[in-house]
Parts: sequence; C-alpha cells; structure tokens
Amino acid sequence: MKLALLQYNPKFGEKEANLAKAEGLLNKTKFDLVVLPELFAAGYLFTSQKEVENLSEKISEGLTSQFFLDFCRKKKVYAAFGILEKAGKNFYNSALLIGPQGILSHYRKLHLFYEEKKWFSPGNFPLSVTKVKDARVGMMICFDWRFPEAARTLALKGADIILHPSNLVMPHCPDAMITRALENRVFCATSDRIGTEKRGGKSFTYIGQSQIVDPEGKILFRLGNKEENVAVVEINPEKARRKKINPYNDLFLDRREKFYYEPI
Ligand code: ACM
Repeated sequence: MKLALLQYNPKFGEKEANLAKAEGLLNKTKFDLVVLPELFAAGYLFTSQKEVENLSEKISEGLTSQFFLDFCRKKKVYAAFGILEKAGKNFYNSALLIGPQGILSHYRKLHLFYEEKKWFSPGNFPLSVTKVKDARVGMMICFDWRFPEAARTLALKGADIILHPSNLVMPHCPDAMITRALENRVFCATSDRIGTEKRGGKSFTYIGQSQIVDPEGKILFRLGNKEENVAVVEINPEKARRKKINPYNDLFLDRREKFYYEPI
C-alpha cells in the first residue's frame, strides 16, 4: 500500500482556498491512502462559537466531505482528514475516512485539547477499525496521542495502521508516536500542519514533522517543521499483524489484563 501524508499551512477560515491548495499538492503524487491534518480546511485557532458555527459542516453535505467524495471516487483513492462537524446543536472535532465508495468511517475526537473544550462536544463514538484494501485502519486525532488507551484500543481492535490527523503545538508527539507504534506493533501515520495562527490575542505555531513510523518503531520519514509537501511510502500492512517480538514474548498475548483494571 502506498501511504501518503499531506503537510501544509492552511489559512484560517479560507476553506475553498485551502481545499484548492490541498488538491494541488495531492495531484502531484500517486498514493492509495492519504492522511491530512486535523481541521485541515477550517483552521484551528477559533475566537468565538460563532466562528466555529460558520466554518462547521454537516457530515457528507459540506464543502470538505463533498470535495473528498468526488476526489476519491474519481482517483480511486482513500483519504482520512480532520473536519469541523456540525450535528444538531453540537460541534465536533472529527475525522472522516472516505474511499471511492463513499464515507467509510467517522470519528469524533475523544480527548479535547485546551480551548477545544470551549468549542466542541467531546467525541461519543467508539474507536473503530475499517478495511482499506489489504489494510485495517483506525483513526484518532492529535491530542489523543497523550492517552495511550486510544492507540492501544485501535491496535487491540485489529488496526494495522493508525491514521492520526493533527495540529501539533507541543514538541513531544512525534517522538511519543514512536512509542505508540512500538508498544502496539502498528504503523502510525501522523499528518500535521505548519505555520502560525495569530488570532484574538493568541498565537499558535504548529510544529509540522508529519511522519510515518513502522511497527518496529522505525521512522520511515519525518517532514520538516516548515515544509509543505505530500510524502509517500510503500508499506506492507501485514507487518503489523505479528505481535511476537522474540520466541518468548507476544505483545498482545503477554498482556495481564485482569491485573490492569482492579480498583486502585
Ligand atoms: C491538538 O490536539 N490539536 C493539540
């Protein structure tokens, strides 16, 4: 499978221009599955609930999902990306996985970061795994990395690849994802954005460093912190299905689950 990550600098609130820029980058490269950043079309640093509302979309009706439904059908590819979701009176920091046949998976960020708690409702869907060609993939979003249970749950549910749309502002995640890959023996594909957003007296600089790590913890590539690019690597998802690390240890069979959930 040719697995790709898009890293770029979207402009806050300029969804059409951001989609056009992403499309230009995606058209430069061949891939089977691409991961884009968290909230890659809307931008991240909101200053009011009204802004969140104005930039939000109903899943499958909005500009962003329509763009990818069309793109994936025409190009016969798969895309996982962050989207600002409106559902009734609620707003979610969500991710969609779309393929040539339509929407395949929908995830709502479980662990909200910082002021996201002001704007979004916390996710209310279970972490789930979906078949994409020969691979089984699961999605989590950015700050979910700080909760090892998210990646563990996806791996225990059978994910070969963790798709991880992100808007990283702290430095630790790229190295931490090596551990997430190693402890679960899965591929981890983190797509981050770059650039600085200055809004409402606040400023966030996003660290880039989008990367794919293999089940042995090897970084297959890591982009720079200012680079706009689509990077691709050929992977064999089956490599994530062997949890044995030596003749004595299997990372899943050796778990002592009954001792993990005793009352503390
Ligand atoms: C983050 O969860 N966007 C840091």
